[in-house]
Amino acid sequence: MVIALTRALSPRIVECELTYLDRTPIDFARAAEQHDAYERLLEAHGCMIRRVDDADDSPDGVFVEDAAVVLDGLAVITRPGATSRRGETESMARALAPHRPLQHIVAPATLDGGDVLVAGDTLFVGRSRRTNDEGIVQLRDAVAAYGYKVVAVDFSGCLHLKSAVTRIGEGMLLFNPGYVEPFAGFEMVAVDPEEPDAANALLLGGALIFPAEHPRTRELLAHRFTVSASEMSELLKAEAGVTCCSVIVEV
Ligand code: GLY
Repeated sequence: MVIALTRALSPRIVECELTYLDRTPIDFARAAEQHDAYERLLEAHGCMIRRVDDADDSPDGVFVEDAAVVLDGLAVITRPGATSRRGETESMARALAPHRPLQHIVAPATLDGGDVLVAGDTLFVGRSRRTNDEGIVQLRDAVAAYGYKVVAVDFSGCLHLKSAVTRIGEGMLLFNPGYVEPFAGFEMVAVDPEEPDAANALLLGGALIFPAEHPRTRELLAHRFTVSASEMSELLKAEAGVTCCSVIVEV
């Protein structure tokens, strides 16, 4: 069984953190509809949706990916880099406790799940405004005994490592060469140059969940992959993507 942990939108999402984007009005009703449709799409791809406890006072709480890193043998509860997001982790720990032993990132470390790209037994971790070197060291220590290695990655121009590069298949990554260097040993598929923020895809089973708002890159991917489009316009305004709205847990 595959569980997708999600969280209801906070009514305060309009106060979300923004780092590289200017603030533009978010239509709350439309954002909630898009989030519901995203959940239905994940169900259609075999996931059982379980909602983490509401966090109405956390504007970015819907972006659950940043609160945890889930691996086969354990889950790591993060310490998000934005102070406004630190309240999101306790509820995530409660949701994951039945499924995995938990490890915790602690101060002064910071780590956002959006900066962690898992490919087999390697965790690529972006050094970012949200994830510091101490966070990378603590993650390395937490996962080493489970057979995972951690590789730190520099990138620029976007919020999280997974805004710059995501996994789209066995040994295959989708990336924006303007944000991050190609990874050695992988087939690297570049986004359409007119869609710099199109590198965030969610690989689920053999299919890709991908934002409808990046049609050129979607078409490029559709030649080789099964791609399901997810309307994300309102959530993209909150500097989000398709990976950050769920935490996938195989049980
Ligand atoms: N608005 C998403 C984030 O900054 O974490």
